[in-house]
Order: sequence, then structure tokens, then C-alpha cells
Amino acid sequence: MTSRKLLGMLFLIALCLCITLPQSAFAEDGAALYKSKCAACHGPEGQGKIGTALKGTSLTEDQISALLTAGDAAKKPPHKKPMNGVSADDAKAVAAFVKTLK
Ligand code: HEC
Repeated sequence: MTSRKLLGMLFLIALCLCITLPQSAFAEDGAALYKSKCAACHGPEGQGKIGTALKGTSLTEDQISALLTAGDAAKKPPHKKPMNGVSADDAKAVAAFVKTLK
């Protein structure tokens, strides 16, 4: 195989990665964030621990992400205040992940 062909193939592979990555990265991010930021309190499967069970929650994705980014004065800590280290994008990704817990 000539190096020119090889370069062409590498380019195509890179192009494919760019097209497919954003979607899978999004889903993985939510799961990874959940694991690192939420699972300790809500359980790895959202079954609840210190925090309430999240699987099958009736809250919408928007309500969950709002709780994480804005907090809710009526809730107990840590959700009285916005969660540390959770950006608006993180909140959306993790909220989408929470909705997949069943
Ligand atoms: C330090 C422990 C702790 C961590 C970390 C934590 N939570 Fe919570 N969470 C709680 C507690 C306690 C409650 C119950 C608060 C209440 O009802 O006043 C709660 C409640 C919630 C609720 C509301 C549930 C309902 O039915 O009203 C959601 C949604 C939620 N948490 C999502 C998350 C997500 C997503 C993360 C990760 C970004 C997270 N929590 C991290 C302890 C935690």
C-alpha cells in the first residue's frame, strides 16, 4: 500500500470518528458523570442510598438538570444549592442518563 493511500484511509477514519463520536461521547459522559458525582448518594443503578431513588423518577430531564444547575431551596443538601463542578452541559447529560435508569 502506498503511503498516499494510507494517508487517505487515515483521513477517512478520522472523518468517521468526528461524525460518530459526539453522540456516543454524550451518552458516555452522562453515565460517567453519574458514576463520579451521583452514584455515591443515589446508588450505581439509581436505586437510592443516602439520596432518594432516581430510577423511574417522574421528574423530567429539564427538572433534573435545573435542580443540578440552580438548586432548589426546598430540597435537602446537596441540592439546596447548584452542584459543585456540574456545568449546564454536564447537568443535561447526566439528567438524560438518569432518565435511562429503570
Ligand atoms: C451528597 C449526596 C448526594 C449527591 C452527591 C447527589 N445527590 Fe441527589 N439527592 C440527595 C438527597 C439527600 C436527595 C433528597 C433531597 C430532598 O428530597 O430534599 C436528593 C434528591 C435528588 C433528586 C430529586 C429526586 C426527587 O424525586 O425529588 C434528583 C433528581 C437528584 N437528587 C439527582 C442527583 C444527581 C443527578 C446527582 C449527580 C449530579 C446527585 N443527585 C447527587 C443526595 C445527593
